[in-house]
Amino acid sequence: MPRQAKTLTAQKDERTKTGVPGLDEILFGGIPRNNLVVISGDPGSGKTSLCLEFLYRGAMEYDEPGVYVSLEEPEEEVVKMAETFGWDIASLIEEGKLIVITVELYDFDKLKSTIEDVVARIHAKRLVIDPGVIFRLYFERELDARKRILSLARMLKKIGCTAIITNEIALDKTTSLFGLEEYVADGVILLYHTKLEDRFVRSIGVLKMRGTKISEKLHPITITKEGIKILAKHELFEDVK
Ligand SMILES: Nc1ncnc2c1ncn2[C@@H]1O[C@H](COP(=O)(O)OP(=O)(O)OP(=O)(O)O)[C@@H](O)[C@H]1O
Ligand SMILES: [Mg+2]
Repeated sequence: MPRQAKTLTAQKDERTKTGVPGLDEILFGGIPRNNLVVISGDPGSGKTSLCLEFLYRGAMEYDEPGVYVSLEEPEEEVVKMAETFGWDIASLIEEGKLIVITVELYDFDKLKSTIEDVVARIHAKRLVIDPGVIFRLYFERELDARKRILSLARMLKKIGCTAIITNEIALDKTTSLFGLEEYVADGVILLYHTKLEDRFVRSIGVLKMRGTKISEKLHPITITKEGIKILAKHELFEDVK
C-alpha cells in the first residue's frame, strides 16, 4: 500500500462516526475512538434518541456492534422507543449486533463487570449508559462518585469502546454537581431545549472534545420520525432577531 494511502486509512480509523446526520460534521469527522463523551441536556432535549441513533447507525452503517445500558427504563421500553423512529432494533439484537440491558445500580463493581461481559460477548465498539445521572444520586460523597466514574472511564478505554453517558441537567440553571463533564469525560455535548418567544427550540453545542477540532457554534436540531438531524450548516438564532 502506498505510504500516503496507509496514513489516510489510519486517520480514518481514529474516529467513530456517529452516523447521526450533521453530528460528524460539527465534530470534524466523528468522535475520536475510545473517547468517553457526556451528553448533558434539558429534559426532553433528545439525549436518549441521540444515543439510540448512535448505536443504530453504528450497527447498520459501520458494522460496529453496540451496547445500551439502561439504568432506568426496562429493555422493552428502550426497544419500543427505537421503533417509533422506524429502527428495527429487535432484529439487531437477534443478530448479535446490539445488546440492550437494564442494570440496577446497587453495586457499582457489578455494573462494571456486567459492562465488561456484555461488551466482550458481541465485541462491542460502542457503549451507551443512560441516564448516567443516577451515579450522582447513588454516591453520597462527591469524591466517591468521581473515583468511581474515573475507574469506569479507564475500564471503557481498556475494552476499546467509544462511550456516551447521559446527564440530565437544566443547562441554563446549573452545572453538574460533581464535575464529571469537566474533569473526567473526553468530550461534552450539550443539548438545549429552550423557550424562545412563543415556542421551544432545540439546539446542540459541543463544549469540548479531546482530540478533534469542534464547531464553536450552537446548531439547531430537528427530531422527526426518521431520528435526529443536526443542521450543521445553520447557526442557532441566525434568523432570529
Ligand atoms: N418518533 C418521533 N418523532 C418525532 N419526535 C419524537 C419521536 N420520538 C421522540 N420524539 C421527540 O423527542 C423528544 C426527546 O426525546 P428523548 O427521550 O430522546 O429526550 P431525553 O433528553 O432523553 O429526555 P429525558 O430527559 O426524558 O430523558 C421527545 O420529547 C419527543 O418530543
Ligand atoms: Mg432520556
